[in-house]
Amino acid sequence: MSILLTGGLGYIGSHTAVELLSAGYDVVVVDNLSNSDLSVKDRIAQIVSSTRKIGEDNFKVYVGDVRDENLLNKVFSQNKIDAVVHFAGLKAVGESTKKPIEYYDNNLISTLKLLEVMRKFNVKNFVFSSSATVYGQAKSMPIYEDFPVGATNPYGRTKLFIEEILKDLYAADNSFNIAILRYFNPIGAHDSGLIGEDPNGIPNNLFPYISRVATGKLDCLSIFGNDYNTPDGTGVRDYIHVVDLAKGHLCAIKKLEQNCGLQIYNLGTGKGYSVLDIVNAYNKVCGGKVKYKFAPRRPGDIDICYASPEKAEKELGWHAERDLENMCKTGYNFECKKQK
Ligand code: NAD
Ligand code: UFG
Repeated sequence: MSILLTGGLGYIGSHTAVELLSAGYDVVVVDNLSNSDLSVKDRIAQIVSSTRKIGEDNFKVYVGDVRDENLLNKVFSQNKIDAVVHFAGLKAVGESTKKPIEYYDNNLISTLKLLEVMRKFNVKNFVFSSSATVYGQAKSMPIYEDFPVGATNPYGRTKLFIEEILKDLYAADNSFNIAILRYFNPIGAHDSGLIGEDPNGIPNNLFPYISRVATGKLDCLSIFGNDYNTPDGTGVRDYIHVVDLAKGHLCAIKKLEQNCGLQIYNLGTGKGYSVLDIVNAYNKVCGGKVKYKFAPRRPGDIDICYASPEKAEKELGWHAERDLENMCKTGYNFECKKQK
């Protein structure tokens, strides 16, 4: 079976490519390299080569934009695609408030073009990268899939709008099988240290920021707020190892093969950790190099957010396996190995 990964050279896409290839699937990637590097292709191949011999027919990368219909036509004509996982998108919450047109254009148009070409080529299995951000500040924890949704920024709204588009599409044509995966906070890296999260510029997210402080690339972490309604006053999130998250996509693809219709799944661990928990766990791994100071709250942040992963466990047979120590170890290993 051949799976198309849009954005397959990015953080979550690259780890998913490794898991799919290792499980015997063929993988086709379309990525415009707006937030990734072509060298990731060779690193994915290098990781997989220890368990499977792969050639050009098993793993192809097209450098180009998902909004480019001609490119999509070429990809679908040249490959017999069985399912699509749509990772490609812009994802920085803060940037989306400054550049809403770019976010709506990139995230919505890419999805519409992709679905149109899929329909034309009669490819009806679709996995979408959604986000816990669609829940906003939920009224209680853990968060279940049927909780009310509502976004507070353009990035989140692109995710919500796409979810609605997918529901409309399914209502019009129930031969589609669609898995909407709402990711919580992916962190960590592949055990090899060859792939991981490597944002351009100063990281917006907590974990890559900590990694750069631990390796001396940045001076000091600012912890945004210590007066939240949480046990230690700092924000609580559901951090999930990116390899566990990647494995969730394999389970979702297997579910699509059973003609599941449209399904929504939280992919999280069900545990909440505070910013201080993360700093302390990372410091155990790196020998106490993460210095921090408290700073004012970041606008738009919520107190607490963690998943109920019960539905994914029950219906996909998936649950996260790796603990916080492993997330920190693999993340630190990647950051230390990075050539930058
Ligand atoms: P990423 O930026 O590392 O990967 C996205 C990839 O898509 C990049 O390689 C980028 O070059 C590519 N891309 C972007 N727009 C494109 C386009 N129009 N055409 C072709 N390629 C394009 O991000 P990630 O962390 O791997 O996230 C993957 C998906 O998961 C995104 O849709 C994101 O919104 C979603 N998500 C991520 C998180 C997170 O914390 N990382 C949380 C929830 C949801
Ligand atoms: N934080 C700091 N200092 C930093 C960065 C973050 O204290 O330098 C804190 C935040 O205030 C928050 C926690 O660390 O309490 C996590 O922040 P992140 O920016 O790492 O993650 P968010 O939960 O804000 O958002 C992320 C992605 C979203 C996605 C969401 C899903 O950025 O795109 O997870 O839960 F939707």
